[in-house]
Amino acid sequence: MPADEIALKPKGADQVQAGALPLAGLTAWQGLVRHGGLKSGQRVLIHAAAGGVGHLAVQIAKARGAYVIATASPQKLDFARSLGADEVLDYTKGDFADKVRDIDLVLEPIGGDHAKHSLKVLKRGGVLVSLLNVSDATKTQASARGIRVERMSVVPDREGLLELARLIDANKLTVHVAKSFPLEQAGAAHAFLATRPIGKVALTA
Ligand SMILES: NC(=O)c1ccc[n+]([C@@H]2O[C@H](COP(=O)([O-])OP(=O)(O)OC[C@H]3O[C@@H](n4cnc5c(N)ncnc54)[C@H](OP(=O)(O)O)[C@@H]3O)[C@@H](O)[C@H]2O)c1
Repeated sequence: MPADEIALKPKGADQVQAGALPLAGLTAWQGLVRHGGLKSGQRVLIHAAAGGVGHLAVQIAKARGAYVIATASPQKLDFARSLGADEVLDYTKGDFADKVRDIDLVLEPIGGDHAKHSLKVLKRGGVLVSLLNVSDATKTQASARGIRVERMSVVPDREGLLELARLIDANKLTVHVAKSFPLEQAGAAHAFLATRPIGKVALTA
């Protein structure tokens, strides 16, 4: 195992949380910090804030002093608020682009037309960090408006893991594991995923 891809488990996370953290946590960290260049005081829109990546991204952005606007479905709004989001929008009601303005950074896990739509809320000089492919039309529209588009793919990252561990041990980051299943019940775990739970689902061996 390359040494620059591993780090000690944070004391503040149990084995299951530590297992559920790296991919979603590094995606949120690298998306906001490395690709988005997040700065304290910036206005950040985090879509899918109750998801695996989203629930960690809200907490990381808050810990770095950002003003966070989060989108989620009705039954998950309270959870998104409990993560520290300054504003929470129900994405099933109305158009988020009618309610949000002057955003510096959008974390976009939905992709497609949704990514293009997110351009509407970004200010000139803002950044769209997409976790999924971005169409050429969206890139063209973005550059015409002076918006930077980053299509990111998470990479192993010891420094990122250490930052996540520091946040956990400072009680600024909590991994929400909706449910964990023994490995031999992986089928049941997938069936549970289809119910669109909050946060992460884990398998234990
Ligand atoms: N590029 C990379 O390196 C990378 C890394 C990790 C993940 N990803 C991708 O990023 C996406 C998210 O990953 P994840 O692990 O966070 O998934 P997840 O845990 O399944 O969360 C997805 C969330 O999206 C919400 N959602 C669905 N439609 C929405 C909308 N229109 N507006 C706001 N929220 C909406 C869902 O909420 P409801 O169920 O309540 O609707 C759910 O909470 C996936 O497509 C994944 O493949 C990419």
